[in-house]
Amino acid sequence: MDIVIAGTGYVGLVTGACLAHSGHNVTCVDVNKEKVALMEQGVSPIYEPGLDEIMRESINLGKLHFTTEYEKAYRNAEVIFIGVGTPERADGSANLKYVYKVADQIAYSIERDCLIVIKSTVPIGTNEKVEVFIRERLRNKVNVEVASNPEFLSQGTAVKDTLKAKRIIIGVETKKAEKTLRGIYERFGIPIVVTNRKSAEMVKYASNDFLALKISFINEIANLCEIVGADVGDVAKGMSYDSRIGDKFLKAGIGYGGSCFPKDTKALHWLASDNGYEFKTVKAAIEINENQKFRLIRKAKKEFKSFEGLKIAVLGLTFKPGTDDLREAPSIPNVKMMLEEGANVYAYDPIGVNNFRKLFPTGVEYVKCPEIALENADLAFIFTEWKEITSIKLDQYKMLMKNPVIFDGRNCYSVEEAEQAKIDYYSIGRRNVSINRNLNKSELRLKSINDLINVPDDVACTDSSRL
Ligand code: UGA
Repeated sequence: MDIVIAGTGYVGLVTGACLAHSGHNVTCVDVNKEKVALMEQGVSPIYEPGLDEIMRESINLGKLHFTTEYEKAYRNAEVIFIGVGTPERADGSANLKYVYKVADQIAYSIERDCLIVIKSTVPIGTNEKVEVFIRERLRNKVNVEVASNPEFLSQGTAVKDTLKAKRIIIGVETKKAEKTLRGIYERFGIPIVVTNRKSAEMVKYASNDFLALKISFINEIANLCEIVGADVGDVAKGMSYDSRIGDKFLKAGIGYGGSCFPKDTKALHWLASDNGYEFKTVKAAIEINENQKFRLIRKAKKEFKSFEGLKIAVLGLTFKPGTDDLREAPSIPNVKMMLEEGANVYAYDPIGVNNFRKLFPTGVEYVKCPEIALENADLAFIFTEWKEITSIKLDQYKMLMKNPVIFDGRNCYSVEEAEQAKIDYYSIGRRNVSINRNLNKSELRLKSINDLINVPDDVACTDSSRL
């Protein structure tokens, strides 16, 4: 089938490359000339493992093309997928300006009957509205129908998630549209769920928001574990044996980030409010996540009254491993706080540094390996569980840092390991290991007692046995 894809971000490009890989003739449209020139060479403008390979393979087979000339591309297309961004507006609602811009270009260009498929995550009712919008603007007498086909790919595993998806959701109002979409997807051998457009749109929000809720739930369990002395890792493991709960998305940490969960929770909450309904669970997930981002730094602030003049090693910047994406990454507000306090921040990330530099062009020292960040550091923060970071042995922290104190937002090490290594280690939902800090604190306490009783330095107490 001849398919055109509007937009070459994560959704558009991965969908285009995977449909071409499965044998369809695909043309991807993007307004950016440099980006199109790059993609024509088989180079993906986004970091996504395995994408370059399937792009090159399909380009060589003549199945995948790129163009900036939308009019020409849309003119005789049988099916046009819309895979453009739907970013968040200030009030939390989804901004649909890119979807409508493409819809307008489609209405202007098409010269034959066409099925428009919206892959972008859009509020319930959008497919219907876009259909009306296009029909009102058609330049030629053709039949147009809009169908919903939300995507469920995750950054870092997007190609696998598309080629071996768990399900394909098709939201249609006619048998004709269903037949066309089945014709595109049946070769993937993946279960196809057919429903109406509004339900398909809702499946996407409900799926993402449910996962966000699951993360916020385990994060709250983690916070409570810290108070009552339980271990969230063990709790999650114990829960996971119940297949009704499962073992996925139960990793406690410093909150979810990325271009989807934060945006989609806010959009669904906004949509519910707009329809006179208060979506309490999603609202709670949003609030918990905002709070969770600062959980670790609050712990650090209890131990270090001020970060001024301290060298802080920041390990991991992206919102999760396997991507260079920094959208809503917890590292951003945390590093901002550190800099505001006058810390000397040394940041390491295997992929995300270039993007982070755009946000913090000055003030942060970017280093090529974690060892340089850790050398002589007063404390270390872990924000992303890259394997380059989790493979650092605790002994290395001890060897390299001035004082080995780790604040781990992704629970990369076990508490027992930290105890054995005699490293001060603060993580999420588990007990703190504060061997050295306790020693330092008692030293500090003794010093202040000595100050109080004004003992001359040469007879000052330096250990508790002398008090
Ligand atoms: C998410 C969904 O997982 C995809 O199914 C969906 O298609 C996509 O959004 C989208 O709407 O486009 P993604 O944003 O790439 O995918 O990332 P996830 O792997 O879901 O992780 C999101 C955040 O949750 C990350 O910050 C991650 O660290 C955090 N997370 C994930 C946890 O804190 N704990 C977990 O157990 C799992």
